[in-house]
Amino acid sequence: TRIDKGGHKHFMAKEIAEQPTVIADALSHYLSAGGEIRLPDPQVDFAQVERITMVACGTAFLACLTAKYWFEQIARLPVEVDVASEFRYREPPVPAKSLALFVSQSGETADTLAALRYMAGKADRIASVVNVPESSIARESDLVLPIHAGVEIGVASTKAFTCQLTVLFLLAIKAASDRGTLTDEARADHLSQLRRLPALIAEALDQNVAIRETARKLANARDVLFLGRGPLYPLAHEGALKLKEISYIHAEAYASGELKHGPIALVDEDVPVVVMAPRDTLFDKTVSNMQEVMARKGKVILISDREGLAEAANGTWDTITMPDVSDAVAPILYAIPAQLLAYHTAVAKGTDVDQPRNLAKSVTVE
Ligand code: G6P
Repeated sequence: TRIDKGGHKHFMAKEIAEQPTVIADALSHYLSAGGEIRLPDPQVDFAQVERITMVACGTAFLACLTAKYWFEQIARLPVEVDVASEFRYREPPVPAKSLALFVSQSGETADTLAALRYMAGKADRIASVVNVPESSIARESDLVLPIHAGVEIGVASTKAFTCQLTVLFLLAIKAASDRGTLTDEARADHLSQLRRLPALIAEALDQNVAIRETARKLANARDVLFLGRGPLYPLAHEGALKLKEISYIHAEAYASGELKHGPIALVDEDVPVVVMAPRDTLFDKTVSNMQEVMARKGKVILISDREGLAEAANGTWDTITMPDVSDAVAPILYAIPAQLLAYHTAVAKGTDVDQPRNLAKSVTVE
């Protein structure tokens, strides 16, 4: 099959736009109409697992950091996450009853593969979440969970990230069912949120033009901060990573609560601060961090839902409106504005969006 941009200016734009479709596809592979989560063999009984060790690089690493919140909060299962280049050399002890979980779009990243080989024979089971089922990482895993994102060309990962998150979320729900940590009602709630996700993402994509306007302003910045709390904290990192990868603007992410431990020293009228804050249980805390930024003349771009914006948009530089979503599923939805902000900022700056300088799609050397 020929791969083209399907009428889009860049592969990245096409891949961003495909997300409602590919996520629906990923869901259909793992979730039955009756709400049963079906995983490929060999089956893992998460009641027998005492720890998950997740290892990856780049955007896939940020998917792991997000999933840690799900496995811990929903399935009460301890999770360790590390970047593969550190993990492979720090000779970590591997507790009994460990599941090793590797996440990689390409399935060929050299450091991730080396980390997998380190875990082989030490962990009870090696599982991988990959986009390429014929890849080296998939071949060397006991259990392979394909993300069904389709071919991804843009160097900056977009649809693979949200599909990784979708599969990891399902895995966390499966783990919770095995471990008896979810009521039937809570489980049904999570699954119905997941089923709504393609439609919610389509709604988020409707903000494309508004986000382009925000990005035009962002394009003049030299430094940008991203803040988030809870499962939105890894998303702040993803927003910063995307922005620096393709627009070459220096961007950093912090947990909102860390603001006062350093980064607030950077804030002045030249520094835009992107705040990812759905109206969740931690919203008020994030808003108070945001007000500290505004008190120092920082230019806040608040990404929230209607209710959150009605409450907290006063005094911000700009806002981006997202549909309402559950706390747990929010990070998947909030990936969309993170991607679109980076994309339109890069387009405004005229950089090579699909082939950013110095970066490779797949890093197969150390
Ligand atoms: C490179 C790419 C990133 C990707 C990372 C990990 O740095 O530019 O987009 O997230 O590798 O790649 P993987 O194929 O292992 O997910």
